[in-house]
Amino acid sequence: MRIPLHIKRICLVGLMGSGKSTTGSILAKVLDWTFVDLDAVIVEEEGRRITEIFEKEGEAEFRNLEEQALKRMLSEDNLVVSCGGGVVVGEQNRERLRHEFVIWLDISPEEAAGRTGNDPDRPLLAGTESAEEVLTEQLRQRRSWYEEAANMTIPVVGNSPEVLASQILKYLGELS
Ligand code: S3P
Repeated sequence: MRIPLHIKRICLVGLMGSGKSTTGSILAKVLDWTFVDLDAVIVEEEGRRITEIFEKEGEAEFRNLEEQALKRMLSEDNLVVSCGGGVVVGEQNRERLRHEFVIWLDISPEEAAGRTGNDPDRPLLAGTESAEEVLTEQLRQRRSWYEEAANMTIPVVGNSPEVLASQILKYLGELS
């Protein structure tokens, strides 16, 4: 499929559970681009799970690793990047994303909570009484950053990653 020539990379942002990774890997396959999950890059480079990094080093160090990983990834072309939900918290990341084609998978905290539950591999949700409350607060803090970063917003509203990917591909086809 042809997409607009000026688009070198597609970055997916949105709350945990919005389907960034699955949607991104479908997009990459159709476009014949490389798929990268930013969390997976960090896990691979650190040789530790995200939960362990949060536990041993704290969130600030995780954000530092995330920023470095994003910077490195954005130096490559023909890439679909699934960013962690908190990528927009970092000012440097927001600045970098300004030069990228960014898609926000806009999911309600309620739906996201239903998809993530109390995932032990998601340290910001693990052990919380209510994933929905945490996600609601995250969205309250991040909504304007997601909005500002996004070239395109896709409401998830119960749609599967396959449907989301086809909506994105249709839009990209219309742009070219
Ligand atoms: C986070 C989202 C996670 C991961 C980390 C923090 C967040 O990524 O980076 O647990 O702050 O929203 P996913 O959105 O891919 O689950």
